[in-house]
Amino acid sequence: MEHASPKLEPLISADRIAARVDELATAINQQYQGVDELVLIGVLKGSFIFLADLARRITVPHRIEFIAVSSYGATKRTDHPGDVRLIMDIRHPVNGAHVLLIEDIVDTGYTITYLQQLISARGPASLRTCALVRKLERAEVEATVDYLGFDIPDVWVVGYGLDWAERFRTLPDICVVNPDEHESDKDAMS
Ligand code: PRP
Repeated sequence: MEHASPKLEPLISADRIAARVDELATAINQQYQGVDELVLIGVLKGSFIFLADLARRITVPHRIEFIAVSSYGATKRTDHPGDVRLIMDIRHPVNGAHVLLIEDIVDTGYTITYLQQLISARGPASLRTCALVRKLERAEVEATVDYLGFDIPDVWVVGYGLDWAERFRTLPDICVVNPDEHESDKDAMS
């Protein structure tokens, strides 16, 4: 479906993101000091840029996995709140491994909560979560985020992996989609 180009307003600059990613990596490196292997699981698609930048600052030996889910939370379909489905699983087992889940955004909290339950049932040595941004106002379930980039207001954000109808994921800054300009398209995208 074609969408008119919305107006974008900068919210978090690439420089601020980079500085925060550095801080998160420092905290993660301290937390996992001495660990033989950390498994970083990126949640597709939105986390791919955040994961790429964060992982390259992590000095603990690590491997990368990806997982994909389809979320039908309140942002998607109100008739199925919290219904999250696994689309693509990780490639290798994580039982006995130290695992860090990497998300771009925690909105209602359903997706990260689902993934925590899914992975913890597989018996990892430890499981923590890291998210670039979180919309606390939108929380419907209390999700644990051990490493958080930024709390943001309830606005539609794009860039640095985040999309608007699959567009704008590769913008260097995180920007707000002007609500006046996309309101009529919002439902069509979800
Ligand atoms: C986004 C985001 C999270 C989820 C968060 O994924 O990447 O996985 O929504 O929402 P929640 O807290 O309400 O569950 P999206 O379905 O937009 O897919 P994408 O990552 O491929 O853009």
